[in-house]
Amino acid sequence: MVNGNRILSIGEVAKRSGVAISTIHFYESKGLITSTRNASNHRQYPSVVLRYIAIIRVAQRTGMTLEEIQKTLSAYQAGAKLNENEWKTLAAEWQAGINQRIKRLERLRDELDNCIGCGCLSLKECPLRNPKDKLAEKGPGPQILERP
Ligand code: FES
Repeated sequence: MVNGNRILSIGEVAKRSGVAISTIHFYESKGLITSTRNASNHRQYPSVVLRYIAIIRVAQRTGMTLEEIQKTLSAYQAGAKLNENEWKTLAAEWQAGINQRIKRLERLRDELDNCIGCGCLSLKECPLRNPKDKLAEKGPGPQILERP
């Protein structure tokens, strides 16, 4: 144990996180996580790396780019053992973007059976919600589904 962290080999990190060793190397090359070397010059990681990898993976699955994740994590020393308040601060930074994604997903779930303002005029509601594709004046794309 070092600083309250178990020390894990790259194989143990890969097994527990479900992430390929090549992906762990990639995250390290992007400065998202860090490792040290043992006497045999093998990489070793503090167990907190599992939290970083988990959060990076889930954030990516919600549509966040690696650049967005990197920008936020770069405010902290890579692989640092953050306390609850620091994680809360970090999460707060992502909140607006996550809420926007939640709103989009809810619309996708709830509004696909109606006119989405895309210009197709193929549904019986379209003439009501987008007469003669008036919404095209607002710009490209589904103006109703992507409304602010
Ligand atoms: S769904 Fe395409 S314009 Fe209505």
